Parts: sequence; structure tokens; C-alpha cells
Amino acid sequence: MKILLITGASSDLGCCYIKKYADRYDKIVGTYHSTPDALNELKAELGDKLITYSLDLNDEDAVAAFGEYLKENELLPQYYIHLAGQKSAMTRVHQQDIEKVKDDLETSVFSVMKLFGAIIPPMQKAKFGRIVFMLSSVTHTTVAFKTSYTVAKYALLGFMKSAAVELAASGITVNGVSPTMIDTRFIKGASPLALKKSIENSPLKRLATPEEIVCVIDGLLSDENSFMIGQNILVGGGSVI
Ligand SMILES: NC(=O)c1ccc[n+]([C@@H]2O[C@H](COP(=O)([O-])OP(=O)(O)OC[C@H]3O[C@@H](n4cnc5c(N)ncnc54)[C@H](OP(=O)(O)O)[C@@H]3O)[C@@H](O)[C@H]2O)c1
Repeated sequence: MKILLITGASSDLGCCYIKKYADRYDKIVGTYHSTPDALNELKAELGDKLITYSLDLNDEDAVAAFGEYLKENELLPQYYIHLAGQKSAMTRVHQQDIEKVKDDLETSVFSVMKLFGAIIPPMQKAKFGRIVFMLSSVTHTTVAFKTSYTVAKYALLGFMKSAAVELAASGITVNGVSPTMIDTRFIKGASPLALKKSIENSPLKRLATPEEIVCVIDGLLSDENSFMIGQNILVGGGSVI
């Protein structure tokens, strides 16, 4: 049975991925935190194939309980996409709220580290796994006033590389996707100047659509994709060449 797990499935990207590629899987477990509506609409279409789960990735006990839930219900995945991330607030580098930085790290990285305790051993046993983390173009071209977001994404990048090199021999590939700005609710509230810059920097003169990002994720999750390992793929509409 092909099982996909998506943490942050309620995101515009998560829902877009499920809409386009649900046929590839027998079961999809999708987590949400505060906005279940779009995921529930998909559940109405897909029925039992889509299992939705309310999970606060910043709650250590809840993440441990989720790992147990996957085990007990025989839902441990061979395919895993981690999309969850907190919105990036504009702050000055010398005025960081350390609690907010810890929150960003918890959602982006620590939660996944904990979840790995449940999902990696069965992948190792099966000698197969496909994992994709959502990074950001800030790991290619760093921008000002996004310290907490940038630190969290770099931490996830470091974890991606460590996991990739360690798990490759077990047939598990781990990669990251780093888009520039995508037209999702994530950027609502982004500074108009940042949006304008992102659009101007691309020869296409527009933001990415969710479809243009999920097709890259899907390629990395392919069973045939066994030799691309530990890569941080920039999807930037030609803005960095
Ligand atoms: N949009 C862009 O321009 C852009 C560019 C580069 C990278 N990205 C990355 O793409 C990913 C998805 O973003 P998106 O654009 O699709 O935006 P989005 O719709 O706002 O998605 C954010 C996701 O993170 C989840 N989340 C936030 N805090 C959480 C917590 N404490 N516990 C569990 N889940 C939590 C949200 O769940 P709920 O909604 O259910 O609360 C949602 O599923 C993020 O990692 C973001 O950094 C986005």
C-alpha cells in the first residue's frame, strides 16, 4: 500500500498537491493546524483515501502521539512531504524575539526530527523512502528583515542534508525545494515592496503558481528518482541563474 504523509497539508501547496496527485497513492495522511476547511473539501471528494489529522507541530507531546497514531493504524508512510512553516514577519536583525525564533524552529525542524523517530525505521526496513522538505529561496539568496524565517529554513536545510547523507544507503532519498514567492495565502500581508521585487527579479515577471511548485515536489517523490539526494532545488522562474 502506497502511503503519503503531508505535514502542513492544509497549506495552499498541500491542497494543490493532493488535488493533482492523489491518484498516485492508496492513502494520504494530511495534517492541519488552524485551517481545516480546504482539506475537508478534498476529503469530501476523496473519501477514505484522505485521512485528516489535527496537529500542532509545536506541541512535542502531540507530535509523539501522532507518531504512535501512524504506527497503530498502519499508516507509516513511504512518502513524506513537510510543508508546514510559519509566516515570515519582518524584523530587524538586532531586535529578535527569541521565543518567535524558537517557534519557527519548532514548526520547521524540531517537529520533523521527532517524527523521524516513527517514520524512518520502517522505511529503512523496507529499503525505500522518498522525503521532500519545503525550504525557501532565502537559502539561495538571503534577504534582509527575515532573520527568524531564514534561520528556520537554514536549520531545515542542514537537517535535510544530514538525513540525506545518512539515509541514502537505505534507499531513502531526502531533498528540498526552494521556491521564490508563490501566489498563496502565505504571502498575504507580505510587504508590497518584497512582492514587487520578487516579480521584477524573474524574467517571467510574475509569482509562481502552486502547480509550478508541486510538480517539482512530485518529481522528487517519484519511485524512479533514486539518484538525486540531498539537493536544495531552487524554483525561481529564472530569477537566479
Ligand atoms: N508562499 C510562498 O511565497 C512561499 C515561498 C517559499 C516557501 N514557502 C513555504 O511553503 C510552505 C507552505 O506555504 P504556503 O505558501 O502553502 O502557505 P500556507 O498556506 O500559509 O501554509 C502554511 C502551513 O503551515 C502550517 N502550520 C503553521 N504553523 C503550524 C503549526 N504550529 N503546527 C502545524 N502546522 C502549522 C499551516 O497549517 P494551518 O493552515 O492548518 O494552520 C499550513 O498548512 C511553507 O513552509 C513556506 O515557508 C512559501
